Amino acid sequence: MSLPDSAPQRQALADRLKAAGVLKDPKWRAAVEAVPRELFLTPGVFLPAEGGRWNPVTALGAEPKEWLEIAYSDNSLATQLDGHLTSDQTADPVTGVPTSSSTTPMTVVGMIEDLEVGDDHTVLEVGTGTGYSTALLCHRLGEDNVTTIEVDPQVAARADAALEETGFSTWAVTGDGLLGHPRRAPYDRVIATCAVRRIPYAWVRQTKPGGIILATVGSWTYGTGLAKVIVNEDGTAEGRIIGRSSFMHARAQAPTPLAGDLSARTAYPDTERQAKLPPTLLQEWMPAFLAQLAAPGAQFVRATGSDGAQLLYLFDAERESFAAFTEDASGWTVRQGGPVALWDDVEQGLVAWADADQPDISTVRLHITDAAHTYWIGGQKISTKRRSHWIGEKHMLRWEHRLTKPRSDL
Ligand SMILES: C[S@@+](CC[C@H](N)C(=O)[O-])C[C@H]1O[C@@H](n2cnc3c(N)ncnc32)[C@H](O)[C@@H]1O
Repeated sequence: MSLPDSAPQRQALADRLKAAGVLKDPKWRAAVEAVPRELFLTPGVFLPAEGGRWNPVTALGAEPKEWLEIAYSDNSLATQLDGHLTSDQTADPVTGVPTSSSTTPMTVVGMIEDLEVGDDHTVLEVGTGTGYSTALLCHRLGEDNVTTIEVDPQVAARADAALEETGFSTWAVTGDGLLGHPRRAPYDRVIATCAVRRIPYAWVRQTKPGGIILATVGSWTYGTGLAKVIVNEDGTAEGRIIGRSSFMHARAQAPTPLAGDLSARTAYPDTERQAKLPPTLLQEWMPAFLAQLAAPGAQFVRATGSDGAQLLYLFDAERESFAAFTEDASGWTVRQGGPVALWDDVEQGLVAWADADQPDISTVRLHITDAAHTYWIGGQKISTKRRSHWIGEKHMLRWEHRLTKPRSDL
């Protein structure tokens, strides 16, 4: 199939991104106008269909006009399901979980603008996916300054081919981006287009002092935040959550459904009390983000009882702890079991957050060392010659995640 020149669509995309306040720098605009997204979607995409299914559409099977409409829609486009399936391998709608995609240009361009690159900066991109965002980086910075890493060999091979076809022979690596890519380090910038539970310390080690790391953090599929941290001379990093962000997780960290009988798991609680706040709050973005900070290993599960009542749970499989919630006329009751009172920890943070007029996700600050990740809201900034440091007695909220085994070899 020979496609018509997509220059008008690229220009229209740049106009929309600019109108939305996402595209600001003329050099990024030049990249958006130059990189043909459609060439990064080969062999095709899966579009959402009825009943949670996915409709396969291939570049070869679609009308050229339709294909360009899909390619330049403001949508993320799933390109692989369940770690293997591509749209040329099925003719019928299928179920499955997206495991690779071309992220919507609104998000991609917003992130690369937030990266604050200079002309000669080197960038490590984690999660090559289709290679579209890699191509934008290459256009802006030159292919020698971009290293991109993708964990899935088939996805990496397709991205590599598309990058070559569009004229960007960059350093595309197949491997686990959670480890970074030490061979080309140190980088001025690290950007992740997959979500991580926390920023791997390997990325901090592989970033130059003054360099920026930008990544979506959190362990749920929602309630995740875009962390932007600057690396200090002493090997620590600090910054804040600059907004909401949602990405598929790094493969090894993707949430897995809980197995087993939920009611059996929660049959023998240690305590029972009225909840001070409704657990339904956890369906909202910022409370969900705070819950993940308070109980990073926990999963929030919704189920329906035999009487049709809504049942909500928090489970932390690693720490063998649970909180089970039921609602009646007097409100929500929480029953907790296991060594960690999950809801006590989550609720304490949520009450403080509610008392403080519900500050936005962008008030959350973050400090990373090789031994711990500390998040907080409130406090004051102390500046020394070498670095500035957020600290203070008056943290409204503070969570410290200690790493059990710091990996100093990465
Ligand atoms: C949302 S897609 C990336 C979108 C891409 N930047 C684009 O513009 O097309 C996320 C990608 O991250 C990859 N990924 C997941 N875990 C990874 C890991 N540990 N290291 C490197 N890549 C990973 C997935 O295979 C997937 O292709």
